[in-house]
Amino acid sequence: MREEDLEAFGEITATSYFEVDARTYQRAWPDPVRRPPGRNAHWMRRTGRALATDPGGCWVAEVDGEVVGGAVSRVRELMWILASFAVRPDQQGRGIGTQLMAAAMHHGRGCLRGMFAASADPGAVRRYRLAGFDLHPQMLLTGVVDRSAIPVVERVREGTAADVELMNSVDRRTRGAAHLDDHDLLLDQFRLVVTDHTTGSGYAYVDDDGVPVLVAATNRRTASGLMWEALASSTPGAQVEVRHITAANAWALDVGLAARLAIYTNGYLCVRQMKPPAPYVHHGSLL
Ligand SMILES: CC(C)(COP(=O)(O)OP(=O)(O)OC[C@H]1O[C@@H](n2cnc3c(N)ncnc32)[C@H](O)[C@@H]1OP(=O)(O)O)[C@@H](O)C(=O)NCCC(=O)NCCS
Repeated sequence: MREEDLEAFGEITATSYFEVDARTYQRAWPDPVRRPPGRNAHWMRRTGRALATDPGGCWVAEVDGEVVGGAVSRVRELMWILASFAVRPDQQGRGIGTQLMAAAMHHGRGCLRGMFAASADPGAVRRYRLAGFDLHPQMLLTGVVDRSAIPVVERVREGTAADVELMNSVDRRTRGAAHLDDHDLLLDQFRLVVTDHTTGSGYAYVDDDGVPVLVAATNRRTASGLMWEALASSTPGAQVEVRHITAANAWALDVGLAARLAIYTNGYLCVRQMKPPAPYVHHGSLL
């Protein structure tokens, strides 16, 4: 993949993911929307950075000189992480995805562990299992936060770039590999809240809607406090959607249920040579 392929591949991921969502979303959910332009800019920045840090993990496939698919992966401290994987819908089912996946996995050949979040696309899930990954169903919590259920949260403060070392150490304890530079991308996009105390430490990145998009902590109590801090910042009366919760993280379900959110399932956390991290809620592409 080259810098000049970014835009074309970005369009392909937006189209392919939207097409999967349209095929697999549940009736009780709002209709899926294609990735909005605001989020496209973040996708471009993240992927552009991956191209700089992990050129060997980023690949596109061309048919007649035109980009028709790609795969973006990173290696962080002996963990291989797949961030984006898509083939244009009219070119799917011809073996292109298999070749892209093989090229991206070659980048992680020195890594024992691997981790990524997968859509519910049966073709993708087939690829991942055949590539040796364990599939852990992901749950999501959705609804309007019951403000009267929000507890007083102690020992949570706003975080800054000065917390990166602390976060990397919590990453190693929970997911077995630090995010390193990826924290810069996350810090640019999200609000950071941190707990750093003798009784537990952890952090959460929170989006503008009050959704915790990444939570890691040394114990469940700390993780729950961070998740409550995020939910408390949601706009009263507005829908929130907390995604990427595995069965290993029942604490997050308990917070969601106390906030009167509903549980659904969607997609999988795919891992290799490791258990699903806990207490942990993974980010969709940086994990
Ligand atoms: C996942 C994806 C990248 C694979 O690319 P592709 O070029 O279609 O992949 P291939 O043709 O190499 O292989 C697809 C495999 O899925 C199988 N498949 C396709 N549709 C399927 C279905 N509905 N049910 C079961 N298997 C299916 C194919 O038979 C093939 O398996 P095989 O090689 O063992 O026969 C592509 O389908 C895609 O872009 N999907 C939508 C986006 C997405 O979900 N990406 C993954 C995000 S985590």
